[in-house]
Formats: sequence, structure tokens, C-alpha cells
Amino acid sequence: MCGIFGYIGRRPEAVKLVVDGLKLLDYRGYDSAGYVALSEGKFISVKKVGKVAELEASLSDLLTPSNIAIAHTRWATHGKPTEINAHPHFDDQSSLTVVHNGIIENHDAIREMLQKKGIIFSSETDSEVIPQLIGYYYKGDLLKAVQKAVGKLKGAFAIVLMHKNHPDELICVARECPLAIGIGKEEMFIASDAHAFLTHTKKVIYLHSSEIAVIKRETIEAFDGNAVPITKESEDLDIDVEKISKGHFPHYMLKEIYEQPQSVSNALLSRYSDEYGTAILDELGMTDEELYKIQRIIILGCGTSFHAGLLGGYMLEERARIPVQVEISSEFRYKNPIIQENTLAIAISQSGETADTIAAMRELREKGAKIIGICNVQGSTLAREANASLFLRAGPEIGVASTKAFTSQLILLALITLRFARMRTMSQKEGKDFINALTCLPTQIRSILDHADLIEKIANKYASYENFFFLGRRFMYPTAMEGALKLKEIAYVNANAYPAGEMKHGPIALVDDKCIIVAFCSDSVTYPKILNDLMELKARNGKIIAIAPEGSRELFSIADDIIIIPRTIDELTPLLAALPAQHFAYCVAKKRGTEIDKPRNLAKSVTVG
Ligand code: M6R
Repeated sequence: MCGIFGYIGRRPEAVKLVVDGLKLLDYRGYDSAGYVALSEGKFISVKKVGKVAELEASLSDLLTPSNIAIAHTRWATHGKPTEINAHPHFDDQSSLTVVHNGIIENHDAIREMLQKKGIIFSSETDSEVIPQLIGYYYKGDLLKAVQKAVGKLKGAFAIVLMHKNHPDELICVARECPLAIGIGKEEMFIASDAHAFLTHTKKVIYLHSSEIAVIKRETIEAFDGNAVPITKESEDLDIDVEKISKGHFPHYMLKEIYEQPQSVSNALLSRYSDEYGTAILDELGMTDEELYKIQRIIILGCGTSFHAGLLGGYMLEERARIPVQVEISSEFRYKNPIIQENTLAIAISQSGETADTIAAMRELREKGAKIIGICNVQGSTLAREANASLFLRAGPEIGVASTKAFTSQLILLALITLRFARMRTMSQKEGKDFINALTCLPTQIRSILDHADLIEKIANKYASYENFFFLGRRFMYPTAMEGALKLKEIAYVNANAYPAGEMKHGPIALVDDKCIIVAFCSDSVTYPKILNDLMELKARNGKIIAIAPEGSRELFSIADDIIIIPRTIDELTPLLAALPAQHFAYCVAKKRGTEIDKPRNLAKSVTVG
């Protein structure tokens, strides 16, 4: 949700550096983009509506030489996506400039107070109050003015600012929104996601908890939220540069779909013991005794991570016989939840920055629950604040539609299930069978991807239809929800997900020959039931695409098209069924010509709640 990139250092091409950095962040928001550089005491700023590519196209070969610049790509919250509302924003003297990610909750009150003092605002954004307030407090000591202003701001934010009178420093603040500082040779980079400066440096420090840093080309001076100086230790980023390029794929989403044999293997690596038929999850930092004491599990997430959580709930209840409550974070945080003793919470978030999930996690922690994060980004807020984290090891996921993160989340939930089940209900032999099913997955995924042509053919056949139902039962219901979400978000097609048994309680009224039903038929327990459900829909002329395991002969006379997937245990079949669903959505979107990696109105990390 908004991307920030900043540079200060020895090189005179700061503008190019920040715009290039911004290109790697535009999945965070792409309503508008802008930069400002300081050159010979003057601010040079350009803003454009639309993606960073628009900003880049407007750059001439003769870029203003500058060695300090900041840039921003916006996901609009307050104010329309116009050039005026685009960042960077300035104080009314044009002495200082700010880029901001997050929301200033008390912007109205601050704006009113400043307007009464005669300060003139130019935009409709909440963000503009930041430079205006700092400008108002500035009496020569920039750090003091920033500290005073930050003390007045309510909400979540990451800020980078630059002042004409202080041409050799950038000041950064991070409160509940991510900000990483990359340390180079006589140069520093600042970004919302550390991978954006990976080609320049792998040495990074993260700011959080209202920390403020004064960044010069060779030094970083950091302060906590109470203005007390602190020492920040740097760490080395463990990401390969090639993992953030599209390679030979036309879209990140397709690349990430095809990465899944590898990402699933990575998620499994050294996390199970064949010999004992159990999972090894040392990262949990919990003893067997502590795990055994757990009486109840709460799983939290949003979007795809919520769907993975739902499947985790099914797995844990089925195999480990522990009561599980799965909640959408944005609802849970306002429910005043009742937390009993020995409750474990599992917060799932690819980015580790989803505001609602972080807020729900904090609520749970305050009420005494222990939190495990399932997350893809080291150093993220979730990873830092959870008691322990299991990392997906999926590599950066750039496509806004989550694909490989989903399947890796399922692997980690399956491993947690195995660990709990082996302590309670599962025999060693059953544990070994479970592991065997897990380790077959990468090959099975490859075999699905080998038949991607057929999925594309089916997708092309139905790409012009406007109404889809995605149906499943038991393990296949959350899978259907995930499939429908993919189609909605990248192809802009109305896709409703239902448990198949619910159709006759109302939605069947919508079924006719213009309605496409994508049926997930891989759950062994409910297979006969979904056949009946599909017969009822066929009788109403609905067109049926079935995703089903090998040997599902009964479907040949019911479905119009069938995508066959390998057989596995019910707990893991959602993972295999997700692959055709992802690829189907991708192909429909491609056929319809929509923006696949950056769908309209969306952003990769939702850092506002
Ligand atoms: O980073 P998170 O996993 O917390 O993100 C949660 C959702 O915003 C995310 O899964 C979203 O629904 C994706 N666009 C789905 O493809």
C-alpha cells in the first residue's frame, strides 16, 4: 500500500536510482507516482497519474544531477488519484518535502489547526499534513521538528523527508508501516520493501515502532519513539537478485505459478523426519510439553491467507482433533474475542504487513495468546512481533494475485497439523504416510503444469462469460473461495464461491446456460455428494468445468470440461487443485486483456486497516 524509495549518496544520478527503485515497488500501489530531487538548493519534482512507467516515460536523458532524492508510488486512500494528490508533498513554503505510506487518522484536526494559522494546503490528502506540520514546527532543528510533529500524528505511517536547508540528510520515520534502509558504500537506500535495493546492497536495517533515523551518505543516527538514541544492527538479506525479475515469463504471476514445485520443496526442506513420521518445527521455539498443552487454536488472515487459514482449520480439526477458530482479521479485531488459557494463535500473512492481521495479532497478544506467524518476508512487522515465525521461503511474490504463497502456506499448515496430530491422534505409520504425500507434491505440481495447455484451452472457451460459481465441499470449499478470488481480482469477472450444498438454498436461482460452474471435486468424503449437486445444476443448463482427481469417471457424463489432477490425501488436495484454478484465472485474464500483475484498485500489501 504505497511504495517509497529514497537515495542519498555519492552518485549524481539520484533521480534515475529512485525511479528504478520505485519500479520494483509499484505492485504496492499504482494510482500515481512521483519523485523529488534536491539539486543546487532547488527541489525538482515530477508527478504523474498512473503507474511508475508513466513517470519513467516522462524522464529525459538529461536528468537533473542530484545525489539526494525520494520517490513514491501511491495507492489512493484520501483524495482521488490526481497529480495534485500524488506524492511527494511539500510544506507551504516549499522548503521540505515528504513521501508517506499509511494513513494519518487525525489529519482533519491537524489540517484545521494549521489552516487557522494561515497555512495553505494544496491537496486533498491526509499525507500533506505531515510536511505542513513539520514545516510549522521547524525552527532550524529538523530532527526536533520531526520528533515534535510525529508525536502529534495518529495512525500508521512510514515517512521519508528532505529539507532544503539540510541537503546532506534524509529523515525517516516508521510507525506500523515498513521501512528498510540499505547500507551501501558512501550511499544509503530507503525502501518500503528491502528487495527494491537488492541490486545495490544486501546490508539492511529495518525501522519500526515509531523509530526515527537521520540518514547521511555514510551514517545512520537512530532514535526510538521517545527520542532516545538507539543502535540498530544491520542484517544481510537472504534473497537472490534474479528472484525479483520476470525471467522469460510475460508476467510475474505466471512465473510465480511455475515456481511452485520449487517453493513447495523449499517450504518442506528440513522440516520433517521420515524416521519418526513427524514434523520438525524448531522455529516454533516451543517444547513438546508446551505444544501438548494447547487446547485451542485461532487462525487469522485476510484474502488468500484467510483461505489458507480455513484449510488449516479443516486439517487441524480433522487430524489433530484440536478445536480451531478461523477468522478474517479485519472482523476479528473488532469482536472483542474471548481468549482462554492455552490458546495458540496463528497469524498468516505473505507480506507480514497486512494492517488488519497485525492489529488482530496485537489484540490476541494483549489477551495472553501465544502467536505464531506464517509469513514470507523476514524482518516484516508480523515476523518481528509474533512469538515465533515459520517462513514460507517462497522468494519474493510480486504479482498482486497470491499464488506460490498460498501453496507454501498450506505446506506449513500441513506440517503444523502433522506435529500436533503426532502428539495426539496420529500413529507413526500414519505420520510417515502423511510425509510421503507431502514429498510427492512437487512432482505432482509439475505434472499439472505440464498440462497447462489444456487449462488455457478451457479458459479461452469460457473467457467471455460474466458469471461464475466456484463450488466445493469440505476441503474443496476454501479452495473454491481461493479460485473465485483469483478470477475476480485479475480478470474482473463476477465469481461467487459457495459450498456446493448451499446452491439449492438460493443461489441456484441464478443458474442458466450463461452461468459457468467451476466444481472442485477432489474431496474423497464428499465426492458422491458433489456429483448430485452438479446434476442439479446441469439440469438447469449450467455449464460445468470440473477439477477432479484421476479416475473420476462419473464426471465424464456430467461435466462439460474436466481438468484432471493427481490423487493425494484430502488434506493436500486443495494445494493441487489450486494450481489449475490459478492458471485458469491467469488465462481468462490474459484473454480478456486485463492487467494481470497489477489489477485495478488493488495493491500487494494492504498496510491500512
Ligand atoms: O500479505 P497478506 O498475505 O497478509 O495479504 C492478504 C491479502 O491482501 C492477499 O492475500 C490478497 O487477497 C491477494 N491479492 C490475493 O491474491
